[in-house]
Amino acid sequence: MAIEERLLITGGHPLEGDVYVSGGKNTAAAIIPATILSQTPCVIENLPDIEDLRVSAQMLRHLGAKVNWIPEQGVMEVDASSIDRTDVPLDLCRRMRASSYYIGALLARFGSAQVPMPGGCDIGQRPIDQHIKGMRALGAQVETRRGIVYATAEPLVGGDVFLDIATVGGTINVMLAASRAQGNTTIYNAAKEPHIVDLANFLNSMGCRVKGAGTDVIRVRGVQDLQSRRPYAVIPDQIETGTLMIAAAATHGDVTIHGCIPTHMEALTAKLLEMGARVEERDDSIRVRSLGGHRAVSFKTQVYPGFPTDLQQPMGALLCTATGTSTVVENIFESRFRYLAEIERMGARVRVIEQTAIIEGVPQLHAAAVEASDLRAGAALVVAALMAQGTTEISNVHFIDRGYEHLEAKLASLGAEITRACD
Ligand code: EPU
Repeated sequence: MAIEERLLITGGHPLEGDVYVSGGKNTAAAIIPATILSQTPCVIENLPDIEDLRVSAQMLRHLGAKVNWIPEQGVMEVDASSIDRTDVPLDLCRRMRASSYYIGALLARFGSAQVPMPGGCDIGQRPIDQHIKGMRALGAQVETRRGIVYATAEPLVGGDVFLDIATVGGTINVMLAASRAQGNTTIYNAAKEPHIVDLANFLNSMGCRVKGAGTDVIRVRGVQDLQSRRPYAVIPDQIETGTLMIAAAATHGDVTIHGCIPTHMEALTAKLLEMGARVEERDDSIRVRSLGGHRAVSFKTQVYPGFPTDLQQPMGALLCTATGTSTVVENIFESRFRYLAEIERMGARVRVIEQTAIIEGVPQLHAAAVEASDLRAGAALVVAALMAQGTTEISNVHFIDRGYEHLEAKLASLGAEITRACD
């Protein structure tokens, strides 16, 4: 039986000092499968040491790639030339949403992929119909039988893809498939998130021709002979940066987050300023200071550059102690408010009506035993625990480990009282 780990956090300590943000989880999730496209070995740098990457490395090894991952250096070398199969096992796919990217990457390189439907956080329905529609527009035959996606193409041919939703995963998967297709692909209503731009930069560094990433129209000219020629470093994690910013404000602290990209954080920065926190942006760092007395604010989650759904949960935790009533509308995923029921156990006053949460701020949260229901729900509970009186016990820590590198060590270095316990 797996050992169940818990985080024990005693709240009330202001976070103070300097902290470095890790490489982006969701960027790495796209770039590691993209190494399959290269004829030459790839070296990827600035990777976070998180569970999702361990799973991705296992997928590559299962396919026959040579993978050398040095987590303490954040470097993974992938030689995809030895890949000798195009099926990915169910037990690995269940553990990570980004397993779907292996469809686009394997299809582009080998004309064939057999990949079970992806798992990942249970935050609502997460279909991949737009991914499949995009691949079909490039001439692929795609069928789903008994939960496994079977895709073939001989060959993939560039085409026009109109996404019904600006889906992050769908945009990435179509970019991967189009990268080695014959001719030009245009993706309309593409997602604009920072990791889409990072993937485009990586593909271009291998000789692909991707233009328009970061806008809603992306053009990809496929190139058959993609070759990685130099190490590629992934961008810093936007959501980890935001989580640390929120934690700094929540504890009335003074934290400088180094190695981040402040322009990626504008939606959150604007809300923290509106609440009364002080936020100073420099070239690659952000300082967040707060003396408390936060005002309630309202926001709706949106695609980038709107307020990210992945920060809705930690931000919702912070709002539980703001003065006044905040209204939060979750527009991207339908089951992303479960963490609020846990924070209610800590004294929060919350009403959830369909996709809207109404949060009446209370002066103080109190420690309780709470359970993370997904990755960012776990981050929200950490923020709540840092604010609460007493020692909060958070179970289902494995969710947090999926996406945050050394979170407790980073928080402890800033002065948090946080330890990990095993049963
Ligand atoms: N959707 C469809 N059909 C599709 C694809 C998506 O209907 O074919 C819907 C989804 O159900 C959802 C919306 O479109 O309602 C947006 O989904 P999207 O595809 O953009 O999300 P994703 O690719 O599944 C990625 C991140 C998520 C992040 C979302 C939104 C990765 C591995 N995951 O998911 O990250 O919340 O984009 O920004 O990149 C997390 O890090 O905690 C996380 C869940």
